[in-house]
Amino acid sequence: MPILKEGQLEVISYSAEQTQRLGARLGTLLQPGDLVCLSGDLGAGKTVFAAGIGKGWGASTLLTSPTFSLIHVHEREADQQKLYHLDCYRLEGPADADNIGLDDVLIGNGPLVFEWPERIKAALPAERLWIDLRVLETTRRLFNFQAAGPRALALLEAFRGSANG
Ligand SMILES: Nc1ncnc2c1ncn2[C@@H]1O[C@H](COP(=O)(O)OP(=O)(O)O)[C@@H](O)[C@H]1O
Ligand SMILES: [Mg+2]
Repeated sequence: MPILKEGQLEVISYSAEQTQRLGARLGTLLQPGDLVCLSGDLGAGKTVFAAGIGKGWGASTLLTSPTFSLIHVHEREADQQKLYHLDCYRLEGPADADNIGLDDVLIGNGPLVFEWPERIKAALPAERLWIDLRVLETTRRLFNFQAAGPRALALLEAFRGSANG
């Protein structure tokens, strides 16, 4: 995996399965309060990646698209931690963040995974792991990771390191 610079990483996935595995690698590293933003067009692979995160993290339920419910809360048995999976597609701006009780969600006891975070970007904490997904070809996706803040930086470095482990 090429290193651009600290706090950034680009990865290419060649299949949905590979995207799931990438997500799982990140999921195993997530801690309460971690914010992962998955940005990119419809069909880019955000939900596939999120499902991988859920697997790696240890969710007892499968992560599916929360497009209609805005938020799915998953639990893991080991420590009753929660994982918050949100889809902001239907939100029109930061003011709508109130509709989902964003403040309550952000202080929740678990990691947070957002799809369509750009919809409410101004309402999101600045410290986060932002991942842009771009469709290159039918099954090829470019992942661009950008970490902001010390915890997100540590998370990204751990993720980078786990590729070689
Ligand atoms: N490399 C890849 N990574 C992720 N998904 C892929 C890839 N190649 C093909 N796909 C397909 O693209 C679709 C992505 O869907 P989804 O994850 O729901 O997108 P999004 O949540 O970004 O709208 C799935 O049907 C998946 O099988
Ligand atoms: Mg989706």
